[in-house]
Amino acid sequence: MNMVEVVAAAGLFAAVLLGAASAGAQDAPAGDVAHGKVVFLKEACFTCHGRVGEGGGYEGPAPVLAHTALPFDGFRAQIRNPVNDMPAYSDAVLSDQDIADIYAFVKSLPGPRSPKDFPILNN
Ligand code: HEC
Repeated sequence: MNMVEVVAAAGLFAAVLLGAASAGAQDAPAGDVAHGKVVFLKEACFTCHGRVGEGGGYEGPAPVLAHTALPFDGFRAQIRNPVNDMPAYSDAVLSDQDIADIYAFVKSLPGPRSPKDFPILNN
């Protein structure tokens, strides 16, 4: 390979990497927020993560899910193969579409507010 080919190959490689990264970011399938809420409550995610995804101390502590910053793939991976104390959900229990709906639901939640938003804490 001469120098020009090396540079061209490196550029192509970078383009492939960038393409893969941006495709990943856009990969979250369309989700139904209302159905996601139903599944979130029915499958008892709320017992550990809270009714509005505020997190909890029942088993874990279970992290905040409201307005999650996780990409969809990471979100689904945790549900299929949890890293630690969380129970696993196979696709017989929860389809990928159910997970996409839950993802849309928790994304739609506002998440924790800053203490500055509560006047009584700023007296
Ligand atoms: C028995 C308690 C429990 C239940 C029920 C539960 N989780 Fe979890 N979840 C946890 C704990 C604890 C963690 C921290 C990681 C671990 O222990 O695997 C976690 C982590 C997560 C994470 C990773 C969050 C992050 O920011 O790292 C996601 C996403 C998640 N849970 C989604 C769900 C969904 C969706 C359901 C319902 C289908 C669910 N969980 C049910 C306890 C629970």
